[in-house]
Amino acid sequence: MASTLYTVEHARRLARSRLPRMMFDYIDGGSGDERLYAENTRAFEKIELMPRVLTNVADRDLSSHILGMETGLPFGIAPMGMCAISTPGADSIMAREAAKRRIPLGVSTAASATLESIIEQADGYAWFQLYADPAVEFVDELVGRAEASGYRVLVLTVDVPISSFRIRDLQSGFGFPMKWGLRQLFDLACHPRWSLATLAHSLSHGMPQPMNYATSSQGISFVRGSSRARADWDFLHRLRDRWPHKLVVKGVQAPEDAVRIKAAGADALYVSNHGARQMNAAPPAMTSIAPVRAAIGNDMPLIVDGGVRSGEHVIKAIASGADFVMIGRSAMFGLGAAGATGLADILDSFAREASSVMGLAGKTKIGDIDTSCLAVAHGYSAGD
Ligand SMILES: Cc1cc2nc3c(=O)[nH]c(=O)nc-3n(C[C@H](O)[C@H](O)[C@H](O)COP(=O)(O)O)c2cc1C
Repeated sequence: MASTLYTVEHARRLARSRLPRMMFDYIDGGSGDERLYAENTRAFEKIELMPRVLTNVADRDLSSHILGMETGLPFGIAPMGMCAISTPGADSIMAREAAKRRIPLGVSTAASATLESIIEQADGYAWFQLYADPAVEFVDELVGRAEASGYRVLVLTVDVPISSFRIRDLQSGFGFPMKWGLRQLFDLACHPRWSLATLAHSLSHGMPQPMNYATSSQGISFVRGSSRARADWDFLHRLRDRWPHKLVVKGVQAPEDAVRIKAAGADALYVSNHGARQMNAAPPAMTSIAPVRAAIGNDMPLIVDGGVRSGEHVIKAIASGADFVMIGRSAMFGLGAAGATGLADILDSFAREASSVMGLAGKTKIGDIDTSCLAVAHGYSAGD
């Protein structure tokens, strides 16, 4: 029997051995020399929490709420395109976990299942993530489909106006549409377990592809790297007018942008550097929480992702000023390592550790965690 995955690093190692190298590198990789990839997680090491004592913390509650949703945990799964390359049926697996744990699942424009099927399986625990694709009618159709199928949170991702320089993908030849050559076929042949499982699933469900495109009436295809530069301020204003429910803007780090997005009527700010996949020269996402929080004040929800690899990280992000945390690769590595069980193990481990860390910080509820939990608030200097 496979052993339980307690750490993301364990899951990552297993995923690395099971997935064809080009698939693993697409998931794992960052942009440029991947400095930011490491820094996103390293930033957590510099945050220290103050242990508090002589408080009864026997009963702890990890439930939280965000954008009108009561959640079972203070974290959800970030939107990711083409999750089916981690394991067949990944979107369904994530949707079922979202429903079971009452956590939001980000559903990417480039998801490998339709947005309708995912929200149904997630029992409503899903947010739709929109890219400003160059095809105007397609975007319009997606927003309409999202509303009709019951989405009440729309996440506009704004940090991909152009594609970034991802060296691992350039080296492996990974892309959409995929160009199959000898090198790629050899990669598949070296990972027969993944290849056969994907092939078997494809016979009944079709080949993994961005299903919101495949089911569009606009007859357009997903081309990775196509410009999404249409997501300008006018686009945001129009989207705000068009979408009557909660609107989140994802991929923000500059306090000036945050202030302007708040003024444009967004309901929440999502601090993110796209998991270090876009601007490699950006600051780690965690270090952006405090300045963005200071800029937008306390009356606007702040969501964050980037480098979160444990339950401890979740609590540290909340103590730094975030209201809610999303996890990206941690979920993908769990899926890639052991499918549904792998994802469940990672989510279980995050929850167990978050509960323990919260208690050791002297708190029993997520809502009680704030900057007073940080060691620096008690006269300690920030670790470096
Ligand atoms: C394989 C992969 C695909 C992604 N696809 C999308 C996407 O389609 N839309 C989006 O807004 N963000 C996407 N992201 C970024 C994630 O939403 C999130 O910001 C990032 O993964 C968080 O960093 P972490 O992976 O270190 O947790 C993707 C990330 C990964 C790893």
